[in-house]
Amino acid sequence: MAVDPLIVILVGVSGSGKSTIGTRLARQMGWPFLEGDTLHSPASIDKMSRGIPLTDEDRRPWLSEIHARITDAARRGVDLVIACSALKQEYRQTLERGVALTWVHLKGSEALFRSRLQQRTAHVMKADMLASQFDALEEPSNAIVIDASATPDAIVEQLVRQLPAEGRLRVAADVDELSAKAAAAAVEIIECAVAARGRCSVALSGGDTPRGFHRVLGSQFRARVPWAQVHFFWGDERYVPLDHADSNYRMARETLLDHVPCPPSNIHPMPTHLSPAAAAAAAYEKALREHFGDGVGPAFDLNILGIGEDAHTASVFAGSPAVEEQERWVVDAHTDADPQLRLTLTLPALSHSTNIFVLVAGAAKAGALRHALAADSDPHLYPAAGIRSAHGTVLWWADSASARFIRPS
Ligand code: 6PG
Repeated sequence: MAVDPLIVILVGVSGSGKSTIGTRLARQMGWPFLEGDTLHSPASIDKMSRGIPLTDEDRRPWLSEIHARITDAARRGVDLVIACSALKQEYRQTLERGVALTWVHLKGSEALFRSRLQQRTAHVMKADMLASQFDALEEPSNAIVIDASATPDAIVEQLVRQLPAEGRLRVAADVDELSAKAAAAAVEIIECAVAARGRCSVALSGGDTPRGFHRVLGSQFRARVPWAQVHFFWGDERYVPLDHADSNYRMARETLLDHVPCPPSNIHPMPTHLSPAAAAAAAYEKALREHFGDGVGPAFDLNILGIGEDAHTASVFAGSPAVEEQERWVVDAHTDADPQLRLTLTLPALSHSTNIFVLVAGAAKAGALRHALAADSDPHLYPAAGIRSAHGTVLWWADSASARFIRPS
């Protein structure tokens, strides 16, 4: 079942940080941002600049315009972040008519927000209008409540963790369009991560589907990606030399890494030269822990995955020991389905990525995708159904052929 796009509306009185948080959250997630205040009429902006509170009559056309943007985004399947005061339940009911919205309430004291407003000059809302906003505010009962006094980074980190983690589906006409759109979204995420943390950690997948994605990333976006700050890892690898025809590392070099100025020290292939395979897996896990810290899991900013026709993902196959693993981040993987010994991140390890892109193309994957997206699928039988992000979101990028069994929710 497809899942509606995520449309997040940040509500709160003036000074609560809606625009700041909205802008940062949108950049972190690689989504567009709509500043609701930009849709006010000139007459309303003039009223607010003169310290005159808006009436419900003033707000009606404004809310209708925002609702039109929301329904357009929902129709196009586009995730969206909106900043909008939406103080009254009646306003929120107008905005959520016919669509599923995720409300976020930036909550704080009048003193905190007043001090912020008094520091602003250009903002049309005057500090003394704040009292009328608090009077009008009807706290949303179905919102993610955020302490607006926290730092913007802390708020965005909290929001990324709390946003609905279920997967969302983006259907493209074909694998070329899928590759182009996924690459464009990936660049947004890479830029956000580098802007926020000075580096971006990406895990790449094997298989053929990512080839187009790699080529677009390394050509159309070559000049935009801050390659010196991007670290590349692999979610799985065949246990072969890195120059072997079956090597996922070799495929990534040929389709991306040999064509971009990414420092060799930023490229972290799985050590398939180590023997036995279990030692190679343990060594990679050690390298991941050194890079990410010894926390609960490798927090890739972006993790690229694919799925097989049997709904495996990475090298986690149904019925294999890897699908049962809950502790280790990396294991050696073998399966009757493929005699090639492999190394793979485990499903729990994969779930610590902030953004997971699953690239799926071809009619042969339609059944696997349906199982992967079905809420009642057992990951032991369909490992791709176990793709979750505990700290962010999963985006399923599918072409129309592989998505043909998926019905809009
Ligand atoms: C691998 C991949 C594997 C791949 C799927 C889909 O090493 O083979 O990590 O999980 O993503 O098998 O492969 P295709 O993209 O070739 O269909």
